[in-house]
Amino acid sequence: MAKRILIINGSPIKNGNTATLVNWFVEGARLKGADVEIVNAAFLKYRSNGCISCRKCQKIKEYLCVIKDEAQPVLQKMTEVDAIVMATPLYFYGPSAQLKLVMDRMFSLYKWDNKAGTMKTPLKGKTFALIASAFEDVGLDNLEKPFAITADYSGMKFKSLLVANAGESGEVKKLAGIKEKALAFGKQVGT
Ligand SMILES: Cc1cc2nc3c(=O)[nH]c(=O)nc-3n(C[C@H](O)[C@H](O)[C@H](O)COP(=O)(O)O)c2cc1C
Repeated sequence: MAKRILIINGSPIKNGNTATLVNWFVEGARLKGADVEIVNAAFLKYRSNGCISCRKCQKIKEYLCVIKDEAQPVLQKMTEVDAIVMATPLYFYGPSAQLKLVMDRMFSLYKWDNKAGTMKTPLKGKTFALIASAFEDVGLDNLEKPFAITADYSGMKFKSLLVANAGESGEVKKLAGIKEKALAFGKQVGT
């Protein structure tokens, strides 16, 4: 069966380094027959500034963010696919705020019972992948940590493609060997 992949691109630059890496990844994944959807987190219409910690998602049966905006179906789609890919530029040693607007609302994809000390999530068993680039060669390891720990916490398999020295938006195309790496990463996740 074709792998279903949801990519959430957190860059505000439409044809920048993140978009380039994502496009190469998609090319590789589609070569393996994967069914890929890309969502641009920077251009969704939101009714909140990220997760507002209303906790209403904890009081309903469904794994659903109760805020009815364009991020809501994206969060729902996360529960349906085989692999979730988050793509971001490095912004001050972390992911972009645009990506975090969606990521923090993944709170709705867990049910905690703090008395029993249990957690349930439909994310368990999926692949969680990160594609990130930075101008310099400092900080991508720091950026990777919350993604890797989230994957571990959720019972997801974690994979990443980190591109240091990618330069300014668009310049990643000049880096030797990166297109091949991104294609191979897409093939790996898409298989
Ligand atoms: C707000 C902002 C913060 C950034 N912070 C860093 C940083 O801390 N370290 C770094 O190496 N590059 C930093 N960069 C550069 C980008 O991470 C890098 O150029 C990235 O590849 C751009 O991807 P894009 O074209 O998809 O936006 C920053 C860029 C911006 C606009």
